[in-house]
Amino acid sequence: MDRERRPESESDWMGRRSAVSRCSTPEVAGVKHFVASVDELSEDGSQAIVDADGLQIVVFYVGGEYHALADFCIHQGARLSEGKLTGKMEVGADGISKEYDEDHPCVICPWHEWKFDVETGRNVSDDQYVTPTFDVSVEDERVYVHR
Ligand code: FES
Repeated sequence: MDRERRPESESDWMGRRSAVSRCSTPEVAGVKHFVASVDELSEDGSQAIVDADGLQIVVFYVGGEYHALADFCIHQGARLSEGKLTGKMEVGADGISKEYDEDHPCVICPWHEWKFDVETGRNVSDDQYVTPTFDVSVEDERVYVHR
């Protein structure tokens, strides 16, 4: 992995701390940006992109929850919205085997296939690399991202 682009801390990227995405959270910080109607983001695996004060943010609807990430890969800048959603490999209870958890969504970067947990933004191979995430709320059947 390219370690030259590693942030010093989570708060270094975009000047904000990376936050865990939430679904339908009524009280969240940041300016609210309309993303799409609930109907437009109702199919599992669907996504929408919003420009939030100059930052492209992709909102994925997967597993019944909304997850918002900066629409760029922290490796070399590919758009994560052009990546593929998938599950997550986890180490099994024996500490050796691996189990595929399809209920734990990740996005695979289209350029070099780094894989990011869409809930936390963390690279699943090296959690020092974190894509910024944003809070999501739903009001009156409208999905908003907060930045
Ligand atoms: S740009 Fe290289 S893994 Fe995303």
